[in-house]
Amino acid sequence: MAEISIRSIRKSFGATSVLKDVSLEIADGEFLTLLGPSGCGKSTLLRILAGLEVQTGGSLAIGDHVVDGVRPKRRDVAMVFQSYALYPHMTVAQNMALPLRMRRLSSWQRLPVVGRFLLGTTAVGAEIEKDVMRTAKALGIGHLLARKPGQLSGGQRQRVAVGRAMVRQPAVFLMDEPLSNLDAKLRVQMRAEIKELHQRLGVTFVYVTHDQSEAMTMSDRVAVMLDGELLQVAPPQEIYADPDDLRVAEFIGSPKINILEATLRSDGLADAAGTSFT
Ligand SMILES: Nc1ncnc2c1ncn2[C@@H]1O[C@H](COP(=O)(O)OP(=O)(O)O)[C@@H](O)[C@H]1O
Ligand SMILES: [Mg+2]
Repeated sequence: MAEISIRSIRKSFGATSVLKDVSLEIADGEFLTLLGPSGCGKSTLLRILAGLEVQTGGSLAIGDHVVDGVRPKRRDVAMVFQSYALYPHMTVAQNMALPLRMRRLSSWQRLPVVGRFLLGTTAVGAEIEKDVMRTAKALGIGHLLARKPGQLSGGQRQRVAVGRAMVRQPAVFLMDEPLSNLDAKLRVQMRAEIKELHQRLGVTFVYVTHDQSEAMTMSDRVAVMLDGELLQVAPPQEIYADPDDLRVAEFIGSPKINILEATLRSDGLADAAGTSFT
């Protein structure tokens, strides 16, 4: 079980305040998207959830545990980065095995030569290989395991990055604009794949994007973010049809909405652009 509770999180870099009192409850198994323009603080919030960045104020709970000060490795979360962050000198299999090696082997057992002779290394290694193979097959990249990232297409790299996050079966997936490096056609296809992955795994997804059509098509709920504040958190249809805030209305929808100044009369009509409206 991994619901996420974000309570009054603030973050400043020096004098710059990047997150201003962000509070949000994410349900177990929900697909929640943080949507907002570039620079509004999405990645910062995601990195705080992952434990890669420390908040200036506020508190964070994942499942039943307050995780403030808990190291990334000890939080049951996995992150897919925008850049994928694959190690170029390692094969796909080695990249995918890494999170499991970090968790299941001691630092001695991970040593290149010495480790091989320590008790248990081989058995654990075989288990890891099996888990990597199973995940790779589920993502259709089983035939790529011996390749290095440089020998893969953008879409294949993206799958490997997802595979590396999936392999240790985290309770929470954090995805930071995972599709932004793909061409338009592949992006639409991968949207469907990630959505399907969410349904299959049934775990909590926090997905970051600046692309409203991604947010609208994939999410259970969308959290619209601007300048370090959440403006509205609601299902896509509600965000679209019943925005809480003029800034949400302006951000969502294509083409952008028109805004008219109007004067509300005492009889309930509004005067705008030379006519009256109910
Ligand atoms: N390590 C950092 N030091 C200083 N400023 C940062 C740092 N990380 C992010 N910022 C600033 O915080 C703001 C939000 O960044 P970010 O969370 O990456 O936005 P987004 O992911 O929504 O594009 C930006 O103005 C960015 O320049
Ligand atoms: Mg970002």
